Amino acid sequence: MEGKECRAGMLSLLVVGACSAVSLGIRADSCKDVSMQNETPSVDQPFAFNCTYPPLTSGKVHVTWYKYPNRTPISKNMQSRIHQYRNWILFLPLALGDSGIYQCVINDTNMCHSIHVNLTALKKQWCGPSRKGQLDLADEYKQILYVGKDDSLTCHLNFPKSWNLDLIEWYKDCKEIKGERYTSLRMKLSVKNVSVEDRGNYACLARLTHAGKQYSVLNSIMVTVTEKPVFGGRIPKIIYPKNNSIEVKPGSTLIVDCNITDTMGNTNLRCWRVNNTLVDVYYSESKRIREGIENYTYFQDHNFYTMNITFLEVKMEDYGLPFTCHAGVSAAYFILKLPDPDFQAYLIGGLLILTCVMATIVCIHNIFKIDIVLWYRSAFHSAGTTEDGKLYDAYVLYPKTQREIQSHNVDTLVLKFLPEVLERQCGYRLFIFGRDEFPGQAVANAIDENIKLCRRLIIVLVPDLLSFDLLNNMSEEQIAVYNALIQDGIKVILIELEKIKDYTVMPESIQYIKQKYGALQWSGDFTEQSQCAKTKFWKKVRYHMPPKRYPPSSPNQLLKHMPCDLTAG
Ligand SMILES: *[C@@H]1O[C@H](CO)[C@@H](O)[C@H](O)[C@H]1NC(C)=O
Ligand SMILES: *[C@@H]1O[C@H](CO)[C@@H](O)[C@H](O)[C@H]1NC(C)=O
Ligand SMILES: *[C@@H]1O[C@H](CO)[C@@H](O)[C@H](O)[C@H]1NC(C)=O
Ligand SMILES: *[C@@H]1O[C@H](CO)[C@@H](O)[C@H](O)[C@H]1NC(C)=O
Ligand SMILES: *[C@@H]1O[C@H](CO)[C@@H](O)[C@H](O)[C@H]1NC(C)=O
Ligand SMILES: *[C@@H]1O[C@H](CO)[C@@H](O)[C@H](O)[C@H]1NC(C)=O
Repeated sequence: MEGKECRAGMLSLLVVGACSAVSLGIRADSCKDVSMQNETPSVDQPFAFNCTYPPLTSGKVHVTWYKYPNRTPISKNMQSRIHQYRNWILFLPLALGDSGIYQCVINDTNMCHSIHVNLTALKKQWCGPSRKGQLDLADEYKQILYVGKDDSLTCHLNFPKSWNLDLIEWYKDCKEIKGERYTSLRMKLSVKNVSVEDRGNYACLARLTHAGKQYSVLNSIMVTVTEKPVFGGRIPKIIYPKNNSIEVKPGSTLIVDCNITDTMGNTNLRCWRVNNTLVDVYYSESKRIREGIENYTYFQDHNFYTMNITFLEVKMEDYGLPFTCHAGVSAAYFILKLPDPDFQAYLIGGLLILTCVMATIVCIHNIFKIDIVLWYRSAFHSAGTTEDGKLYDAYVLYPKTQREIQSHNVDTLVLKFLPEVLERQCGYRLFIFGRDEFPGQAVANAIDENIKLCRRLIIVLVPDLLSFDLLNNMSEEQIAVYNALIQDGIKVILIELEKIKDYTVMPESIQYIKQKYGALQWSGDFTEQSQCAKTKFWKKVRYHMPPKRYPPSSPNQLLKHMPCDLTAG
């Protein structure tokens, strides 16, 4: 019983021990090996290798470099000749003794992968007497040119992006390459119309600047020349552009991608051309339109390339010109097109203009309404009379005040100015209460009968409450008559001799009339100038008077009649 318990305890201890040994132990060995790569760089120059494993490049990963079978990680000290920088292992420069297996361990929170690199440092005898050592060259050091085509060579230089690579020079059989058939563009050398003579030993030489130090990197490339493509004749496929047009506004910035899929290990030249010239050459002066740097993604059975073209500013001369993306023998272009006029903008613009025009018309109408109506009446003044059974154009009603000055002013306006302007100058006929009724006629009757013979009712008001008592007193029925008149549709013209501030003291009928028809305020003085039909005040009165269809009937009036209707402006 006791021994059994003891054995169980020992067993569990053992299990725990084994477990901790595994978890603490050589993690790298428990990682999944994903690849083994061979690298054959040259000694005495910088070499860099990026630890990438496509499915893991996103997210937070932890990368450590080891030199197999050493268990201590490679130093991260930048001063060290061999050190790790981000995911990279750097040799600054590479020495012969650095050959060996390097291991990069990619640690994710729940995964672990390792990549092995079999590095063989070679002493390449560039231009030396013997070049026999280069037997096991990687693909990038062996390239193929196709006879009879335009083709290209690529200088494979992989260094961290922050490092500056420039001054790429190309050599063939130890001589610098020059001539019309060659164009050096960043990492590429394009060769026009390849011939058999183009085979040989090439080299690309680049200057590398990092942390203030300069290094030279030279890659030799063994170039063979062949008649037909070896990759099963598969041609690169341009996914975009598709010989399409792109709508763009002049002056805007435009970036268009060329997306290509191609076989692994192809040597096709990919570029943007316009009028059969490389874009960067065509716009070499202005640099307004530029080709972007090629980006690539490796997939299992093919490569995907993206290379954009940037228009810093689209100009009119760019429209209708095909911009062609080339990938080996494949080509596809796009053409720029002016955008369709923006109908919405036009619509809004049109509506705005219409609104402005309408507002202006309303404004003009409000300002010149009276002049326009008066002008119209005089211009299209019909000589014919429409008989409406009325005798007078207006019935004039006014208060008799007891205040001397006010009384004088009211009398001047009603008995002098009104007849002068409306009767003499404009040919209207007025019935002025107190002037025109027959003698002996009953007041109520006079009002009632005559008012029915009038087309308008003019009421002159003074702000004095007393005077209205008078008006009130004098013709209580009169007010009732107004109401009847209003129902008859006879229009009322209220003339305030002075500004009346408070209508609430006025009889209700007056308040009603004021509300319905508004009031005109006497604006003149009592001099001769105020007796002209052309003044603002009289124009307003005339505007409210009926259109004059009745020529002045009395010969007396006719003689003195002035053509006031023709002077509306
Ligand atoms: C190097 O690898 C990292 C991730 O592994 C990747 O994000 C980066 O783009 C690579 N750099 C180059 C120049 O390929
Ligand atoms: C590494 O590559 C060299 C030649 O480049 C080869 O001889 C050697 O066997 C390789 N080592 C491994 C472990 O694959
Ligand atoms: C081209 O490829 C890039 C990268 O995959 C993508 O972002 C872009 O949308 C593609 N462009 C076109 C026009 O298909
Ligand atoms: C296009 O190139 C041809 C010669 O290859 C030249 O004659 C023509 O003027 C060029 N057109 C433009 C728009 O540059
Ligand atoms: C265009 O290519 C350049 C590299 O040449 C790159 O920096 C830029 O982000 C690309 N623009 C777009 C919109 O893809
Ligand atoms: C686009 O035009 C090129 C010629 O510039 C032609 O070779 C290609 O077949 C065309 N592609 C399509 C999809 O029409």
